[in-house]
Amino acid sequence: MPLEEIIRTKTGIQNLDKALNGGFPQGNIVLVSGGAGTGKSTFCLQYLLNGATLFGEKGLYVSTEQNKAELMKQARGFNWNLTDLEQKNLIKIVFFDITGADGFPERLNTLIQEFKPKRLIIDSLTTLTDSLIVSGIGNDKEFSLVQIAETVNPIPRTEQIVTKNILYRLFKEIKKFGVTTLLTSELPEDQRTLSADGVSEFVADGVIVFKSLTVGDSTARNLEIKKMRYTQVDGGLKAYDFTKDGIILL
Ligand SMILES: Nc1ncnc2c1ncn2[C@@H]1O[C@H](COP(=O)(O)OP(=O)(O)OP(=O)(O)O)[C@@H](O)[C@H]1O
Ligand SMILES: [Mg+2]
Repeated sequence: MPLEEIIRTKTGIQNLDKALNGGFPQGNIVLVSGGAGTGKSTFCLQYLLNGATLFGEKGLYVSTEQNKAELMKQARGFNWNLTDLEQKNLIKIVFFDITGADGFPERLNTLIQEFKPKRLIIDSLTTLTDSLIVSGIGNDKEFSLVQIAETVNPIPRTEQIVTKNILYRLFKEIKKFGVTTLLTSELPEDQRTLSADGVSEFVADGVIVFKSLTVGDSTARNLEIKKMRYTQVDGGLKAYDFTKDGIILL
């Protein structure tokens, strides 16, 4: 029997697609981890831009940090015309105010059902899960801390268990649609885990870590594909840089 062919979602960043053996396996949920300013949001924007312009695939960007105007400004810095792609209904940018995080899974569900994206970004997962933990004691049925605590009792209610529960719920929601998803996670330089919460790297289908190391007056940027289910990948550090057109892998 022939092996089931893996359908790929290409990043459009040439050497990265090569390292991924053709692109992300379609439907994978991939964690994009890295320190401040390493290029996580830029990479996510570029993934949607390339999806729309090179492959005609629709992309939804759910941002919990920079608002739409700020993301548009960042894109303009690379001469990316997101307004045009928005008008063509290929890209949608939605700012999600985490101070009222109630009902996130329902809102995401509605957005995906209406817009029908092939590519999804949640930037950042860290802000989102943090706010869900904080607001979970409120009246959101799905994410109620009390409810989660009941299900895990008598295991100690550590933040990690709560986070893992939130992630499972979120991932289940996303997986229903088979959309290839990037979730960003903040990673302090000295962190020993691959994500801010220390559990999402286990739940996610893939993990890419962005790192920058400054020595003297030069900065070396490297990314590493730490994990990618359903495909072979090139291991090791890959040098990347920002050009006037976006991120490239050297
Ligand atoms: N137009 C541009 N040309 C070249 N490099 C740029 C340009 N705009 C931004 N950068 C680089 O991208 C970096 C910011 O990238 P980005 O916002 O994607 O990082 P991030 O990992 O999302 O950061 P954060 O953790 O703060 O969200 C800047 O520090 C700068 O080095
Ligand atoms: Mg960012």
